[in-house]
Amino acid sequence: MNLKEVVGKEAVKYVEDGMIVGLGTGSTVFYFVHALADRVKEGLNIQMVSTSIQTVELAKSLGLNIKELEEIDHIDLAVDGVDEIDKNFNAIKGGGAALFREKIVADIAKEVIWIYDESKDVEKLGKFNLPVEILPFGYSHTVRKLTEAGLNPVIRKKDGEILITDNHNYIVDLHLGYGFDIEEVKEKLANIVGVVEHGLFLNMCKLCIKGTPGGAVIINNPNK
Ligand code: 5RP
Repeated sequence: MNLKEVVGKEAVKYVEDGMIVGLGTGSTVFYFVHALADRVKEGLNIQMVSTSIQTVELAKSLGLNIKELEEIDHIDLAVDGVDEIDKNFNAIKGGGAALFREKIVADIAKEVIWIYDESKDVEKLGKFNLPVEILPFGYSHTVRKLTEAGLNPVIRKKDGEILITDNHNYIVDLHLGYGFDIEEVKEKLANIVGVVEHGLFLNMCKLCIKGTPGGAVIINNPNK
C-alpha cells in the first residue's frame, strides 16, 4: 500500500456518525474520500462539504452527496493534505490551487487533521514555494508589488495559460527560499491589496497522520 493510501485510510477512523466533515483536496485526500465512501456504503451517516470542485467531482463519482457551505451551520472535522509541514505544525498548502477554500473550511472546522507522507516533513518551511491566491483585476500590479516587497512571485500557469482557481482568481507562487521568516512574509502579504489569501496554514491542525514505511504515525498537536 502506498503511504498516501495508508494515511487516507487511517484518517477515516476519526469520522463518527452524525458528523459534518470537510473534505480537502489532493492526491492524499483522494484515498481518504475513497475510504470514506466505503464506510458510507456500510451505513455511516455523515454530511460533507468540499474544498474544491475536484473533490466534489471525486465524491460524486463515488456516490457521496456534497453540501454547500451555506447549507450547514458548522463543520466537526476537516481532513486535508499539506505540501510541507514543520515541527511546529506550520504548513504550506495550495499546491493544488485550492488553498482559499481549504483555509475557509479549516477555519470553520472544530478539528482539523492533516494527512501526508513523510516526504512532506521539513525542519523549516520554504522548500516548497508559497502559493498565494490573487485577484485577476489589476493582477500585474499586484505581482509588481509582491516583487517590490522581495517576495519573488511567479504566476502559475497550466498548459501555457494562467491557471484559474475555483474562485476565478489567479495563483502566484512565491519563491522565498528555505527558512524564510514566516511572520515577515505574513505581514507583507497582509499589506498588499489584491492578495486574496495565502497558503500559510499556521498551527491549524489538531493532529497529523504521517505515512511512514512502518505505518501511520499519529502526532498530536499539544497547542490545540
Ligand atoms: C491543494 C493542497 C493539497 O492539500 C496539497 O497540495 C497536498 O496535496 P497532495 O496530497 O496531492 O500531495 O493544498 O491546494
